Amino acid sequence: MRRYLYVLCFALIILLSLQAAAEAGAARHSALIDENIAVFYPPGFVPERVMPSFALVREFREIGKVPEDWEVIPGFEMEGDQFGVHFPVQRGTSLYGTGEVTGPLVRNGTVRTLWNTDNWTYSRFGGNQLYQSHPWVLAVRINGSAYGILCDSTWRMKIDLRDGIKFLSGGAPFRVIVIQRDSPQGVMRALGNLTGTIELPPLWALGYQQCRYSYYPDSRVREVADRFRELRMPCDVIWHDIHYMDGFRVFTFDRNRFPDPSATNRYLHERGFKTVWMIDPGVKAESGYFVYDSGTQLDIWTRTAGGRNFVGRVWPGDCVFPDFTMPAARLWWASLYQRFMETGVDGVWNDMNEPALFGTETGTMPEDNLHRGGGEIPPGTHARYHNVYGMLMVRATRLGIRMVNPERRPFVLTRANYLGGQRYAATWTGDNRASWEHLKISIPMSLNLSLSGQPFNGPDIGGFDGNATPELFGHWIAVGAFYPFCRAHTAVNTRNQEPWEFGQDIEIVARRALERRYRLLPYIYTLFRESSVSGMPVMRPVFFADPVDPALRREQEAFLLGDRLLVIPAWADDPALPDGLWRSIDLDPGSGGHHANRAIQPELRLKGGSILPAGPLVQSTDGYRLAPLTLMVCLDAEGSAIGDLYEDDWEGYGYRGGDYLLTRYRASSCGDTVKVNAEARSGLMKTPEREIRAILFTGRGTFRGAGTERGGVVIPLN
Ligand code: GLC
Repeated sequence: MRRYLYVLCFALIILLSLQAAAEAGAARHSALIDENIAVFYPPGFVPERVMPSFALVREFREIGKVPEDWEVIPGFEMEGDQFGVHFPVQRGTSLYGTGEVTGPLVRNGTVRTLWNTDNWTYSRFGGNQLYQSHPWVLAVRINGSAYGILCDSTWRMKIDLRDGIKFLSGGAPFRVIVIQRDSPQGVMRALGNLTGTIELPPLWALGYQQCRYSYYPDSRVREVADRFRELRMPCDVIWHDIHYMDGFRVFTFDRNRFPDPSATNRYLHERGFKTVWMIDPGVKAESGYFVYDSGTQLDIWTRTAGGRNFVGRVWPGDCVFPDFTMPAARLWWASLYQRFMETGVDGVWNDMNEPALFGTETGTMPEDNLHRGGGEIPPGTHARYHNVYGMLMVRATRLGIRMVNPERRPFVLTRANYLGGQRYAATWTGDNRASWEHLKISIPMSLNLSLSGQPFNGPDIGGFDGNATPELFGHWIAVGAFYPFCRAHTAVNTRNQEPWEFGQDIEIVARRALERRYRLLPYIYTLFRESSVSGMPVMRPVFFADPVDPALRREQEAFLLGDRLLVIPAWADDPALPDGLWRSIDLDPGSGGHHANRAIQPELRLKGGSILPAGPLVQSTDGYRLAPLTLMVCLDAEGSAIGDLYEDDWEGYGYRGGDYLLTRYRASSCGDTVKVNAEARSGLMKTPEREIRAILFTGRGTFRGAGTERGGVVIPLN
């Protein structure tokens, strides 16, 4: 009898553990949250440990059951003390996204860690752990259909794409959202819907921007600005890195270097420049300093595990760090911008917000530091909130700028961020190097950031660390003219890297590159508007032109701006290009070409069936008037083409009340002419009375016509 009981118990234990094992693999709960978007909750899910979501723009509602034939299903499992989510991947599936990454565009076979890290020249952790964290993978199947996987957790995570798709995290179990669509474009739109899109930036933020670490004193800033205008080198923004501050104390100005920041800003404004100034999170721990005193009084500094204010070293020496999880800290931080912005500052650059710390092994604060939270954010350790520290900071910064200038669209640039952080700030890819390697990886980097929901990004043109050679700088600015975010920057103690510093040939190349960008601003602005509405990236991988063509999946030298313009760097080595008609265009046909331009400028190809809106050549977008409008046309096989143009007042919020104009132009061949007309318009803005010039690119050469916005254009073909 006893023996019989033992056997029974044993069998029961085996049965129970088998069941537990089976359950561990499956979701505890799943639901459909939108058409072809499902959420899966793991066993052991404790909402308080991972919610609310930082990635999602709003919490979703469950609308039904996940259909039985749903293909992309996560397996949940513990691997030691790590929580893991695994998805098998069909052969031929290409993986992208994963945020800010070095290395190839296609992420299959890679492993990366999501833990925001100040990673100078990307040299630590094999370049697989950088300034931002995007727990997100875009998968494109062999047949061009696609899915996206979003892990809704801020904890440190590993994305391992060596055998299928695997996420591993030492933090709490998290839910997973899966988007299924017919195309990668469809997945991007759904991601935009879930995590929010960028707000439409002001036009000036799309112009060329000149930076260095640092321009000082103020006379040097004026000298650089004057040079741009003297040399007729288009530029919209001059940047102020840390040396403008008094001993690196944020929200102060050095009395000798910048005795009158309002006058500096005014000087720049009068010459058509906007100004961006840097603010870091570390606040010098020094009583008598108003930022430290007011923060201390409000008791909003991040705390150690023992409950004291955490002190760490950054530029100004010992610093305390606002606990941006606290609503009071965010509001206080926002309020600091009042006096600062009143000097005429136009935009803000938030840096070092991983947060980066000097003299520590990890380069950041201890993981057991405490954040007190408040409102919807529960208290938690730094391990939980590290990856959103920068995101919370720029959220507060944006609020501050809006409070001061409620009528103007803000511009914030951040180094650290997290999935969904595009809602608050644009980004650049941190401290790269002046090398060919880093010029080349800048393209897959920008593309993967774009495929992770952050369209407004770009690297330091020219490379941050080290001295660019003339040839490298020339190539970099020539391609850089087509990055969504277009800024040259360089480190302290490097050579001068303004576009005129590399000799006559490169000065000519740089001017031409920037002129190309400025002429294309109407198209670029239209793309940014599209992105702000739908979440579609501005800069897109070539395979977006034909997601079914396997040859395009790895292309990472050439890229697309929107879906009509192909940019092919001069150094691209046998790039894979989409089939169909893509015609080489010249933005200034007939203007001839300097030999350096011919060797260095990327080739631009316009897709058959497209109209590209271009504007006049201007030195800055200050007072921008889009007149005359140039329409570059490339007909399709049927002899027609279409293209869109979005315009508004370029910097305010009038567009939200309908004060904009979205025009669809159509070109059609008609005997021995091609007619170009506005086919449809939406928006309340008055149709401008302006001249239109049309340039038709054909296999037989280039043809031109002129007309007006209302009357249209007829292009004679002989
Ligand atoms: C960091 C930034 C860099 C900046 C420097 C000084 O290294 O990444 O862009 O110039 O700090 O503020």
